[in-house]
Amino acid sequence: MQDKKKGLEDIVAMDTSICFIDGIQGILRYRGIEVEQLEQMPYDAVSYLLIYGTIPDQQELDAYSRKLKSERYISSEILDVLKVCNYGSEALDSLRTAVCCSAHMDTEKDDSTMEANMNKSIRLVAKFPTLVASVYRYKTGQLPISPNEELSHGANFLYMLKGQVPTAIEADAIEKDFILSAEHELNPSTFSLRITASTMADIYSAVITGLCTLKGPLHGGARKGVMNMLDEVALPENAERYVLDKLLHRQKVMGFGHRVYKNGDPRAKLFKDIAKKLADERGDSHWYDVAEKLEHSMYSKFMEEKGRPIYPNVDFYAAVVYKYLEIPPELATSVFATGRVSGWISHYFEQYANNRVIRPRANYI
Ligand SMILES: CC(C)(COP(=O)(O)OP(=O)(O)OC[C@H]1O[C@@H](n2cnc3c(N)ncnc32)[C@H](O)[C@@H]1OP(=O)(O)O)[C@@H](O)C(=O)NCCC(=O)NCCS
Repeated sequence: MQDKKKGLEDIVAMDTSICFIDGIQGILRYRGIEVEQLEQMPYDAVSYLLIYGTIPDQQELDAYSRKLKSERYISSEILDVLKVCNYGSEALDSLRTAVCCSAHMDTEKDDSTMEANMNKSIRLVAKFPTLVASVYRYKTGQLPISPNEELSHGANFLYMLKGQVPTAIEADAIEKDFILSAEHELNPSTFSLRITASTMADIYSAVITGLCTLKGPLHGGARKGVMNMLDEVALPENAERYVLDKLLHRQKVMGFGHRVYKNGDPRAKLFKDIAKKLADERGDSHWYDVAEKLEHSMYSKFMEEKGRPIYPNVDFYAAVVYKYLEIPPELATSVFATGRVSGWISHYFEQYANNRVIRPRANYI
């Protein structure tokens, strides 16, 4: 097998009308709309766009938001499960277990009609923030906080996490995080979810597949890796030494490089702007400065060593945003999943609507 095809690089596996990426020009669109424009919308509108395929008008958006708000609550049985998971397991493992248990308790679990699948989708999108916030509350020895229906999807998440209504800038930052994390074509977790969908398994099974794949440090787990790296580097003046050391030992620097984007990830720039706004609001540019120094050091040292540049990817400045929002590293992948779930669901529907089981061949050696 050609080495290049290892990791299915550049293999076009299917058609999609959900996401367009131009990796050379750094363009990303969901359903034909530039990510820079999507970022200005509420998360609920982007979630609707991904799942239903069109931008909602005001009436449709209000109805969708109402449904999501009414489905934010989780049962005491699920909370009991999360309490048990608290002992030693990673946040993402607890979230995955809670989604498994939610499936058991959903009377429509094995009903694959369009109506039942839409109901389950709304439940999944609505409950993810509550599940993630509850995981965090138990892990930090606190009781979970009930959802607040007055708040947006993102603001309510931060409220349930910390028990305090976020500032407008913080609420905007987490909404944008969910939007920028919501969809990215055939990334590993979405591809694995589509394989599960192609077997005609139920939507919970598919989303759980996505969660499992997101966990790895080369995918969604990189965000946690970047947060840990920021702690380790600690000061801007340590950044260059850190990068040199990693490159010398042929180790990956988390949050850099991308399989598809060769001239920079457009989401990294948007996340960088969000991080700057949070830093300005707090009057504390520390983590922003550490990150910028890492970005510049990585660019120049990688260029010196390999003769080509490397750029931050989506996870790099997302991690800086989480630092300012005081989201701990252990929660980073679960927060990523909270945004991504709408994209996963849209791919489930697309696969389901025009299905053929995904079953490639291997070269026997
Ligand atoms: C994203 C990623 C998995 C893409 O992988 P890929 O397309 O298979 O690219 P490779 O891992 O083969 O990297 C190609 C080359 O660049 C180097 N490289 C890529 N990303 C690097 C990084 N973050 N740090 C150091 N070197 C890196 C590799 O060592 C390799 O060098 P070589 O050609 O001398 O062997 C990879 O860049 C990576 O592991 N990044 C860090 C993890 C991360 O941030 N993941 C989130 C992705 S959104």
